[in-house]
Amino acid sequence: MGFLANKRILLGVTGGIAAYKSADLVRRLQDAGAEVRVAMTPAAREFIAPLTFQALSGNPVHCDLLDPAAEAAMGHIELARWADAVIVAPATADFLAKLASGAADNLLLATCLATAAPIALAPAMNQGMWSKASTAANVELLRSRGFTLLGPDAGSQACGDIGPGRMLEPLAIIAGLDTLFSSDLLAGKKVVITAGPTREAIDPVRYISNHSSGKMGYALAAAAAAAGADTWLISGPTALATPERVKRIAVTSATEMLEATLSAMAGCHLFIGSAAVADYRPLSVAEHKIKKKDQSGTTLTLVLEKNPDIIATVAALPNRPLTVGFAAETCDLEVHARQKLDSKNLDAVIANDVSRTDIGFNSDDNQVLLVTAGGADWLPLMNKSKLAQELIARLAARL
Ligand code: PMT
Repeated sequence: MGFLANKRILLGVTGGIAAYKSADLVRRLQDAGAEVRVAMTPAAREFIAPLTFQALSGNPVHCDLLDPAAEAAMGHIELARWADAVIVAPATADFLAKLASGAADNLLLATCLATAAPIALAPAMNQGMWSKASTAANVELLRSRGFTLLGPDAGSQACGDIGPGRMLEPLAIIAGLDTLFSSDLLAGKKVVITAGPTREAIDPVRYISNHSSGKMGYALAAAAAAAGADTWLISGPTALATPERVKRIAVTSATEMLEATLSAMAGCHLFIGSAAVADYRPLSVAEHKIKKKDQSGTTLTLVLEKNPDIIATVAALPNRPLTVGFAAETCDLEVHARQKLDSKNLDAVIANDVSRTDIGFNSDDNQVLLVTAGGADWLPLMNKSKLAQELIARLAARL
């Protein structure tokens, strides 16, 4: 698998004969590890039934901009926010013209206009239409505005003509999409990231822990690897798959996380502490399961001792890397983040409000305040994968 693993891809299908190939593209995207949703223009539905895409993607297909029921389920704005990338395949001459003009009179166009995600286009049309000056001008305009053109291919066409205008084969589209998620922002750099919770044993069957799923840290690791970094992920117990090109060291307790982090520090340029490290651990771990019958009264007292502070230890190293912490807060985010910035001697702190259920712990989205000595900057609500790319781009700039 490449950089498409765990990415949310919106496949837009417009009205061309190559639409039949898009059914295979759904499968190929899934093989690459992506989650796929499909949006179709009205013309696309003349070529292939939405049911085909629904069955293949396992998700309802998005067709109508003005259908209140469909918009209530997941409207074009939610869809625009959901996507990590959009691929329109096939993209007809008419669709390219409308996109270039900023039109938004169907759901796919409106979603393309609303999204902040990168958009790739796989044109498919008759060779005469592709060669027209108007199409060339639209394509040039779209390129200059940051759209990625994948293809077209040249060869024999459904209409009997021979020439440029065939849609790229699904595997070639996948290869092109892969590059959308890769960059060389961190080429030659080593990045170490902690993620997930730690577990502090009470006895052989019980532990103290927290709600961290690891999603934020794993998204950061995927983004760092996609940016070309030699990426190390020191992970507490999670149910997540290791992102591509990431070296994962699995740990359980804070003490193990500290040890693994220090062992990965040689040559490290950027350290990000996104793990929810338990601040305290039981002073002593019972050798055998603590039995209720052995306790008198209705209470049990645990004596806890402080865990080492991993990020403060990293920040105190000679030749320390750029050291970036998180702050999990429930109020006064900037005040607490700034206090952590100073007390732990960090270069930046990414603060999130963990009292909210839609962001922070165990959610797919997050909204953070990036605090540095020089100021504080809100990053809007977005999925953790997109947020991780944004954070990695900003931190890469500081390197
Ligand atoms: O894993 P998810 O479900 O995706 O949730 C993401 C998250 C909410 C866990 C993440 O966004 C987050 O906020 N991580 C930091 C959680 C935390 O422990 O925050 P804190 O404010 O208690 O700690 C401040 C910083 O010190 C953090 O960088 C933490 O990793 C570090 N720390 C804390 C204690 C300790 N003993 N050693 C540390 O290195």
